[in-house]
Amino acid sequence: MLNLGTDSELAIKKDQQYLWHNITPYSEANPPMIATSASGSWVTDINGDKFLDGMSGLWCVNVGYGRKELAEAAYNQLLTLPYFPLTQSHLPAIALAEKLNEWLGDDYVIFFSNSGSEANEAAFKMARQYQQQIGQHYRHKFIARYRGYHGSTLGSLSATGQAQRKFKYEPLAGGFLHVAPPDSYRRPAGMTVEEFNLQCAQTIEDTIVWEGVETMAAVIMEPVITGGGVIVPHQIYLDRVQEICTKHGVLLIIDEVICGFGRSGRNFGHHNYNVKPDIVTMAKGLTSAYLPLSATAVRKDIYEAFKDNSDDYGHFRHVNTFGGNPAACALALRNLEILEQENLVERADILGERIYSEFSELLDHKLVGDIRRFGLVIGIELVEDKVSKKPADLSIVKGIIAECKSKGLIIGKNGDTVAGFNNVLTFAPPLSSTDEDVQFIVDTFKSVLNGSWAQ
Ligand SMILES: Cc1ncc(COP(=O)(O)O)c(C=O)c1O
Repeated sequence: MLNLGTDSELAIKKDQQYLWHNITPYSEANPPMIATSASGSWVTDINGDKFLDGMSGLWCVNVGYGRKELAEAAYNQLLTLPYFPLTQSHLPAIALAEKLNEWLGDDYVIFFSNSGSEANEAAFKMARQYQQQIGQHYRHKFIARYRGYHGSTLGSLSATGQAQRKFKYEPLAGGFLHVAPPDSYRRPAGMTVEEFNLQCAQTIEDTIVWEGVETMAAVIMEPVITGGGVIVPHQIYLDRVQEICTKHGVLLIIDEVICGFGRSGRNFGHHNYNVKPDIVTMAKGLTSAYLPLSATAVRKDIYEAFKDNSDDYGHFRHVNTFGGNPAACALALRNLEILEQENLVERADILGERIYSEFSELLDHKLVGDIRRFGLVIGIELVEDKVSKKPADLSIVKGIIAECKSKGLIIGKNGDTVAGFNNVLTFAPPLSSTDEDVQFIVDTFKSVLNGSWAQ
C-alpha cells in the first residue's frame, strides 16, 4: 500500500484492478476519490486537494477526523487485551454497556456486534425468540416502512423498504412487511400534516390487524428516515406508533444507526419524541466510525425472558466473533467522552439550525421543493416542477453534487433507493464542525445552486 506513495495514476490503476467498491458502480472515466488523510471536517485526497466532508463519511464521523485520543484509547487497549470473546466478558465491554444505558436514559441490556446490519439482525432474532418465550408462538412478522434502510445483510435488507437495494437479490427473508412513510411533503391536497401523519400511523395498525395480531413480532423504524430521503415525521406519528405497538403486543425496534450519538441534537433520535423503544440498534457514531462496533440495546424486562430460562433453547444462541472487540469498546467510551466534554450533542442542533435557516431562502429556487431538518441532518428535495412535485432527474442531482465537489464540498444524496425518487440532497457534517466549516458549506452550496443551476 505505502509504496504507491502519492502516484495517483498508479493508485487509481491498482484500485480499478483490485478493489470492488461499496454500491458505487465501476467507472473507468470517473474513478473514486482516494483519501490519504483527514483532520476535523476536512479530507485530503491523493493529489493533495482538500474537501469538506459534508456527509461525515457515511453519516458516521460524528466527532470529526484526526482525534489522537481515539487512536490512543484503541492502541492502549490493544496492548493490554486485544481480544477476548463476549461468550465471556471483558472490562471495556462492561463499562461501555453501562455508559450506553446512561446515554439511553433507561434500563437496557446491551449485545455488541460490528455493523448496523448485524445490530438489526440480532434485534430481529431477539424479537422473534422473545415472543416465543412469552408464549406468543406465532408472532414472527415485522413491519417496516417503504423508503427506510436497515442494512445490507439478507434479514436487514428484507426490512429495508428500498426496491433498488433489493432488485436481483430476491427472494429475501420472509415475514417482512412494509407500509408508507409519513412523507408530509407529498401528502394528499387538503390534508393537514397532523391528519396525514395519523393516517400513516394507522396503516401500521391496519396491517397488524389484517395480517393477524397473533402473527406480529415487531415494528422497526428509524426515528427519521435518513438515507431514504430525510423524511421527518410529525411528533404525533411516533406517539401513535408507540400506542399501536403497546396495544397489540408488538415490539418497537428503533434503528438509531444514523440518528444516534448526537446526530439528532439529542443523545438519540427517539429522545426527540415520546417513545420508549423495546429495542434500540446503533452503530456508526458509536465509535465515530474509527473502528467497527454496533450494539443492540434490549429493554431489561425483555432480557428477563432469556435470563433464567431453563429451556435448552431458552438462551440467545447468537455469537459474533468480533462484536464488542475490547479496542473498539475502549475507543467508543472515549468517543462518548469527547461528545460530552465538547457539548457536541447540543452543537449538532445549533449547527443544524444555522444551516437550515441559511438554506431557507433557497425555497424560492426553481429546483428546491422542500427543505427538511433533523438535528444536524438536512435534506433538500429537488423537483422539476413545484406544483406537480415531479422529482428532479438524477442527472440534475448528480450535476449539483459534482459541482459542489469541484468547489471542495462533499454532499450526499439518497442513492439507489426507490426508482424515480433519488432526488434528495443530504448534508450531515461532523458535529465538531467549526463555524467557518459551516459557513463554507452554506456559501459553497448557495453559490452552486444560484450559479449554473439558477432560474
Ligand atoms: C438506518 C440504518 N440502519 C442500518 C444501517 C446498516 O449499517 P451498516 O452499514 O453498518 O451495516 C445503515 C447504514 O447506512 C443505516 O443507515
